Amino acid sequence: MSGRTKKTAEAIASALNNHEMSYLPIELTGKFVEKIKKLDKFENNDYSDIESQLSNLDVSNYGLIIIGMPTYGNSPPKIFNEILRRLGNLNGKMVVIFNTARFTGGKCLDFMKEKIEEVGGRVIDQSKFRKLFWIGTKNAIKFGKQINENVNS
Ligand SMILES: Cc1cc2nc3c(=O)[nH]c(=O)nc-3n(C[C@H](O)[C@H](O)[C@H](O)COP(=O)(O)O)c2cc1C
Repeated sequence: MSGRTKKTAEAIASALNNHEMSYLPIELTGKFVEKIKKLDKFENNDYSDIESQLSNLDVSNYGLIIIGMPTYGNSPPKIFNEILRRLGNLNGKMVVIFNTARFTGGKCLDFMKEKIEEVGGRVIDQSKFRKLFWIGTKNAIKFGKQINENVNS
């Protein structure tokens, strides 16, 4: 909604210089009210507004997937389920998860981990980025460096 997850993802990505990497953003465009309307459509499993972005999701050639989500009402937005559905069976692939939040982040990461494991993913690291107002990049870069060092893909 406000680019906080994107900013965090890009900061993490900037630290992954030991690895070949692709960045597959899925983002809502338009004014705030338009974004809210698009978000609402997800409730009816209508993903037509972001179909072209979703159709780029092919992770079969990657050793590690890093998935980041904002927290909306203590969970990731419903699009998360659709992303996982499109990724298919992850067959033991390594996955790192993160979320961004303003207040608590609730059980968003727990939910993500559970769902990823249900489709065969192996969650090897996770982080929550919680800031009420300005979300910086320092902690995200630190997390990215940690992944960069620890993962052999
Ligand atoms: C509809 C909506 C629901 C939200 N619910 C929560 C919440 O339950 N807990 C929380 O800590 N932050 C909540 N937030 C704040 C977002 O999680 C936070 O601003 C996040 O970093 C947004 O990322 P984005 O800019 O990538 O969408 C909510 C924001 C919106 C718009």
